[in-house]
Amino acid sequence: MQTDSVLAEARIIPVVVINRANRAQALAEALVAGGIPFAEVTFRTDAAAASIRAMAADPSLCVGAGTVVTPAQVDEAADAGARFIVSPGFSAAVVRRAQEHGLPFFPGAVTPTEIIAALDAGLSTLKFFPAGLYGGPAALTALGAPFPQVRFIPTGGVSAANLSEYLSLPNVAAVGGSWMVPADAVDAGDVPTITRLCAQAVAALPTPAEVA
Ligand code: 3PG
Repeated sequence: MQTDSVLAEARIIPVVVINRANRAQALAEALVAGGIPFAEVTFRTDAAAASIRAMAADPSLCVGAGTVVTPAQVDEAADAGARFIVSPGFSAAVVRRAQEHGLPFFPGAVTPTEIIAALDAGLSTLKFFPAGLYGGPAALTALGAPFPQVRFIPTGGVSAANLSEYLSLPNVAAVGGSWMVPADAVDAGDVPTITRLCAQAVAALPTPAEVA
């Protein structure tokens, strides 16, 4: 399974907590207008599946499901039209269910043992969460020595101020974060704020020359 082709264009993946599915359309509009046509909608609220369904209807946006920790949530996400699945950690049962659906899956892995478990399952693009607390860019550089085949998506403590440092690393595929989709702005359907924060994040991306 090609796990990372769906996110090949993504450098920044907004991690969304949405409480009201009727705000999903405004969120989609803001993400696209701000230049980040991706979203990881987390299963931390009851509105997740309906929001994914609403956003998946917009062909200019690539929407996936996040905080997926059970096989049943994989089923729900797939049924809603999620194009990829993200989990904060590694569960063989969740991986299997994502593979049954043919969905790219990005499990969280921060230790060498977890990384090896993910590689065993055929996965080599991994979420690195919470990135700041698990050593940040220095840890990713260190993990690159034994695991040159792995690409990471650091998430947790990433912001416009440090995303360039992460994205300049050769083993970082993309970064994730919630800073450009603050919960109050999402719940208010505040398109201008989300658009502005996304545009700021895009402006902070490293230039090709800065990427190792
Ligand atoms: C996640 O699940 O990826 C995090 O909640 C996002 O972390 P952040 O809020 O620090 O960006």
